[in-house]
Amino acid sequence: MIKQAIIPLAGLGTRMLPLTSVMPKELMPINGKPNLEYILEECLEAGIKEFIFIISKNKLSIKKYFFNDNFYKKIIKKKKDVKIIQEYKKIKKYQKMIKFVYQNNPKGTGDAVLKCKKFIKNKFFLMLLPDDLIIKSNCSKEMIRLHKKTNGSIIATKRIEKKTVSRWGILSIKNKKKKYFQIKDVIEKPSIKKAPSNFAIIGRYILPTKIFGEIKKLKPGQGGEIHITDAIRRLIKKENKFYGNIFTGKYLDCGTLSGYINSGIEIFKGK
Ligand code: G1P
Repeated sequence: MIKQAIIPLAGLGTRMLPLTSVMPKELMPINGKPNLEYILEECLEAGIKEFIFIISKNKLSIKKYFFNDNFYKKIIKKKKDVKIIQEYKKIKKYQKMIKFVYQNNPKGTGDAVLKCKKFIKNKFFLMLLPDDLIIKSNCSKEMIRLHKKTNGSIIATKRIEKKTVSRWGILSIKNKKKKYFQIKDVIEKPSIKKAPSNFAIIGRYILPTKIFGEIKKLKPGQGGEIHITDAIRRLIKKENKFYGNIFTGKYLDCGTLSGYINSGIEIFKGK
């Protein structure tokens, strides 16, 4: 049963400076709604009951966005505006589901995941990277379905242009079926020469709790960070089954300014 989702939100957002010097990129609106809310909606629809947000003291505005009761109460008392009451109800619903952990010194996705260890209750959990939006189909739901079928760990994956391999985690594959395959190996941001395929990791993972033990053993990898990719690699080498889900939706990259602008256009067009 996948009921918990962890969402790393402590990143510095350097690809979006100077905007991110005053505002977390995850709160930047895409067609009128923060990026992060699209991620939460995807999770809710996929049956997730609890969110663990990994934030930092520099990104407390994310906490404030969801826990600003006095502000809402005052305004609602004065205005009795139906739209504001609706928004507050939505925020209240999320409040009950969110826990926070802190990663004040962002050291990579692996380090972020390890910070959640004490909160994880079941054998598997979902992780979503909010830079990656997937529209037109619920990727998390597809992955949970594949997890039920295979009993293994799942990574969302997509074919990318070979010349861009060094921007992604790249998979080496075996036993390819129409919509999924078994993962033979993973490598974080390889050179074109070292890339085993053009199947890239997209920011959705169903991971086993066993991953915590492997993260603890990691030394900083590519770019000096502790990567979840390297912990996954260790588990695969120990015969743990990982599958790549070739999702059916449309991928939007919100981690760069041009990608962010394009995401707004695509979501607007899709309405
Ligand atoms: C992270 C992961 C990478 C993955 C990518 C997807 O990289 O480390 O394996 O392919 O997300 O967006 P980042 O975007 O943090 O550089």
